[in-house]
Amino acid sequence: MGATALILAAGEGTRMKSDLPKVAHRILGVPMVRHVVEAAHGAGCGRIVVVTGHGAGTVEALLDGVEYARQDRQLGTGHAVMCAAEVLGPLTGSLVVLSGDTPLITSGTISALVAERERHSAGATVLTAHMEDPTGYGRIVRDEADGIAAIVEQKDCDDEQVLISEVNTGTYCFDAEALLGDLDRLTTDNAQGEFYLTDVVALMREQSLAVIPVPAGDANEALGVNTRVHLAEAAKLMQRRINERHMLAGVTMTDPSLVWVGPHVELGRDVVIEPMTFVLGESRVGDGAHLGPNTRVTDSSIAEDAVVDSSILVGAEVGPGATVGPVAYLRPGALLAAKAKAGTCVEIKNSTVGEGSKVPHLSYIGDATIGSGVNVGAGSITCNYDGFEKHRTVIEDGAFVGSDTMLVAPVRIGEGAVTAAASAISRDVPPGALGIERSEQRTVDGWLARRRAGADGAGRQGSEREGE
Ligand code: UD1
Ligand code: CA
Repeated sequence: MGATALILAAGEGTRMKSDLPKVAHRILGVPMVRHVVEAAHGAGCGRIVVVTGHGAGTVEALLDGVEYARQDRQLGTGHAVMCAAEVLGPLTGSLVVLSGDTPLITSGTISALVAERERHSAGATVLTAHMEDPTGYGRIVRDEADGIAAIVEQKDCDDEQVLISEVNTGTYCFDAEALLGDLDRLTTDNAQGEFYLTDVVALMREQSLAVIPVPAGDANEALGVNTRVHLAEAAKLMQRRINERHMLAGVTMTDPSLVWVGPHVELGRDVVIEPMTFVLGESRVGDGAHLGPNTRVTDSSIAEDAVVDSSILVGAEVGPGATVGPVAYLRPGALLAAKAKAGTCVEIKNSTVGEGSKVPHLSYIGDATIGSGVNVGAGSITCNYDGFEKHRTVIEDGAFVGSDTMLVAPVRIGEGAVTAAASAISRDVPPGALGIERSEQRTVDGWLARRRAGADGAGRQGSEREGE
């Protein structure tokens, strides 16, 4: 059935100096509290309850598939659990307690805490870490049998306890019944006048329940984010962790310190990512695709062997072998079919570009359906907006749109049709036809000579205007 998880996320995080609640701050595009929820989910926790309070509305809008308990005043971590007791209901088995501000915690570590508690039928297992500088953390006081006798907060430590380098990471697995039964015995009789969840340890020991320390394999997992300096440290560690996973699975990163990949991104084999490239959100990249340098991809899918150079993609779909950039902007609903091209300084929105079709230079394509084998000449744009409504442009297979064509939507260019360069096309061009809208050119013979002559004399102004 799996353990239940309780995630404490009601605190304000004063030291963040932010209008945003601490746990809503993002790492690689994902709010911290969601990283923790996902780790619990990955560990098989069937139910996840999040305690919210400060900025509850903001925090709750960031999560799906969890239950909430409300802590209106933050009277300590023990009090946060008390506030969740009603939502949790009568509970047996394992209850994992996590902090919303420890985003590096992994599913593997949570599973290990649960397994260890269940194997020993212990009152609790506590994830501990050895810190070079344990300042601010609760210290782990061991007993003769190497169990945990108590956890003592920094501010309550005596001279000897303060020297202990093993700390409480704030990640636990409890016997749910034992924990919930002990809550009404917590007091605020301590240096901070708070209900400490950590006091449950000593209470369990009084009832002869074992409390077992589980040292973290990687102390970084315990990093609690309290300031924006910590936030940046956590982001750096997560960036490295994610990039290493992808490199070991066959992705090339020429400099992984300059590549940012979100936790939900899927990358195929032999993908190459050049520096200053961000791949975030729910993005997928197929085998052999080449991204970057200087590229930002969000919530987009890029098929195998596509190339994206120095471009921005948001909610876009790029087909196999298609090429994007340099300096293209593919906005939501941009869909490039196989081997299509969105070239230099091209913006595409809510439009399909068919197989092998090319929009190579300086174009805006919005609300358009472009068939296959189409060439859109340099500087051509869809005039999709009349100031009131958006209209569609359809360009059928094999059409050739001359350079600098203004396609005034709604308009349709038929199969194999051609538009003459510099035409403003506002009426449909039937299949195979030529659409031309252009005033005739005038040629003024001998203009240069006359202009020079004019410049020597007084008539310069007049000669410049000649030809109008
Ligand atoms: C806590 C632990 C400490 C441990 C440290 C690890 C206690 C008493 N101390 O201290 O032993 O070393 O975490 O990071 O538990 N929260 C609420 N409601 C509250 C108070 C806190 O939801 O009333 C949440 C916070 O939002 C945060 C988490 O609980 O996500 C931890 O709270 P915090 O105040 O940061 O605890 P620490 O003092 O760091
Ligand atoms: Ca903390």
